[in-house]
Amino acid sequence: MINSYYNPVKTMESAGVFLQLPEVIKSMGSEKTRVLVIAWCEDVFAHEVFQKMGDYSVEKLVFTESNPTVEQLFQVYLETKEFSPEVVVAVGGGSIMDVAKSLCCMYEKEIADEDELRILIQEKKFGPPAVRWIGVPTTAGTGSEVTCWATIWDPKKDAKRSLENHDNYAYAALVDSDLTKNIPLKLAVSSALDAAAHAVESYWAKGTNLVSRAMALQAVSTIMENMGELLSGKAEAHEAMAQGSMLAGMAFSNTKTTACHSISYPLTMHYGIPHGVAVSMLLAPVLKMNAPVVDGMEELFHALHIKDAETLRKYIGYCLKQSGHPNSLKEWGVKREELSHLAELGMTKGRADNNPVELTQEKVLGILESIYEEANEAYRSAI
Ligand SMILES: NC(=O)c1ccc[n+]([C@@H]2O[C@H](COP(=O)([O-])OP(=O)(O)OC[C@H]3O[C@@H](n4cnc5c(N)ncnc54)[C@H](O)[C@@H]3O)[C@@H](O)[C@H]2O)c1
Ligand SMILES: [Zn+2]
Repeated sequence: MINSYYNPVKTMESAGVFLQLPEVIKSMGSEKTRVLVIAWCEDVFAHEVFQKMGDYSVEKLVFTESNPTVEQLFQVYLETKEFSPEVVVAVGGGSIMDVAKSLCCMYEKEIADEDELRILIQEKKFGPPAVRWIGVPTTAGTGSEVTCWATIWDPKKDAKRSLENHDNYAYAALVDSDLTKNIPLKLAVSSALDAAAHAVESYWAKGTNLVSRAMALQAVSTIMENMGELLSGKAEAHEAMAQGSMLAGMAFSNTKTTACHSISYPLTMHYGIPHGVAVSMLLAPVLKMNAPVVDGMEELFHALHIKDAETLRKYIGYCLKQSGHPNSLKEWGVKREELSHLAELGMTKGRADNNPVELTQEKVLGILESIYEEANEAYRSAI
């Protein structure tokens, strides 16, 4: 096997690095003057960096939604296409970065309506992007600042879509933990668990490689070593989580994710379970299923600071509860009779088939049953 790895994103990580934005845009070429900044809230625009943007014509837009849909993406496209940005800056969580990435592939196209956009996404008819983007994550996180695909949700069609183009990596990622230091604990913990899942899944993904594995292990240990501090509200934990999330993003940018992400998507779409919560609830049962066929599990257990899947399940349950998240499908409002349909929807192409153990609908159903109720007996025996 050839260990091949590629990621062209220039990463700049440090508290306060957002202030470098004007210089970073300048380095893209002097002709780039129209800059669209999409932010997760209005307060972002009070940041002092916006006083240093005098050389640019800046269009500001606030996008507050989570898990962007085809309709919402189309709306942002309509609102910004006349401005015709030459650079798109996304200051927000994974949702905003996915909108920014998608827009970069849309501006040079005339897209008449939502249905035309839906077909373009569905049939993967996007060519290379016309515009470059810069990612400034405010959650730690999705790692979307260093991946080349965007997740767009289509609840009308019961689907989660991926816009994917290898030319659509960010020009740069400015990872500034000052932007996450006031994040609510709930969001901080679900984001950190999402990042941990990216790293773990990258480690055992079918297409894993030497470089991704090294980054994944470092990401997992950075996140797990600092989780206690995050839960107890220590400010220093935010920089560690920003670093862990970025490293996890670099790892899975080349390997993609596996069963946890695959099974999680319908849980988010139909029950509003936050992305990071949904994937983390699945981590322990999927680890239990995968561990026997994955090389190097000892190193992974060591990085996770656990001895087996059961201790991981307990620890994730503790993190979720401490941060105010329900920790079972039942508490999230899922009905037991809906599990088999959710198992069917959980076989996501490109994720399910990237798992080291072949997934079947029956196995997925068993996994869902194991997290249906907390401390479920089915978990201990079957999975
Ligand atoms: N493209 C990728 O590589 C990739 C990877 C993982 C996840 N994703 C996608 O990312 C999305 C989830 O992203 P997320 O978990 O970052 O959440 P999010 O971006 O959906 O943000 C959650 C909520 O928190 C708000 N928010 C953002 N930053 C905040 C801050 N600093 N303080 C307070 N509130 C803040 C947002 O406005 C939003 O309402 C999902 O749609 C998921 O599918 C994409
Ligand atoms: Zn994720």
